[in-house]
Order: sequence, then structure tokens, then C-alpha cells
Amino acid sequence: MPNIIRIEKNGHIAHLVTPEVGEKLMLCRCYKSSKFPLCDLAHAKLEGEVGPLIVEGPKAAAESKP
Ligand code: FES
Repeated sequence: MPNIIRIEKNGHIAHLVTPEVGEKLMLCRCYKSSKFPLCDLAHAKLEGEVGPLIVEGPKAAAESKP
């Protein structure tokens, strides 16, 4: 589960989203998602080509062999 922090500053709202290691997220760019800032596929019902921004958390560190 990503860590999501809502930030309000100077009358504007932003979200800081931090994915976990190896976690893939779809972030909403159409502003119609009921789970904003995460995409819930509501964009599929809209006209046009807008879709989510896909982000991926950092890769896990490679395991070291003894
Ligand atoms: S619901 Fe907005 S981009 Fe998917």
C-alpha cells in the first residue's frame, strides 16, 4: 500500500505518493477517480485519450550471496 500525503498550500492541493519497493501504481490524471489520486479506471468512460500515470517503486536490493 503506498504512503499518500495530502498537501494544501496557498489554496492548492497536491499529493505526495510514495510507492513501496517494487510496487506499481496508477495515478489518476482525469480527476474523476473516486480513489484520487489513485486511478479507479473511471477514465475508461470518458471521451478522449487520457489515462493514468504509471509509476513503479524502487527495485529491491539484490540479495548478496555468502
Ligand atoms: S480514473 Fe482518472 S486516470 Fe484513471
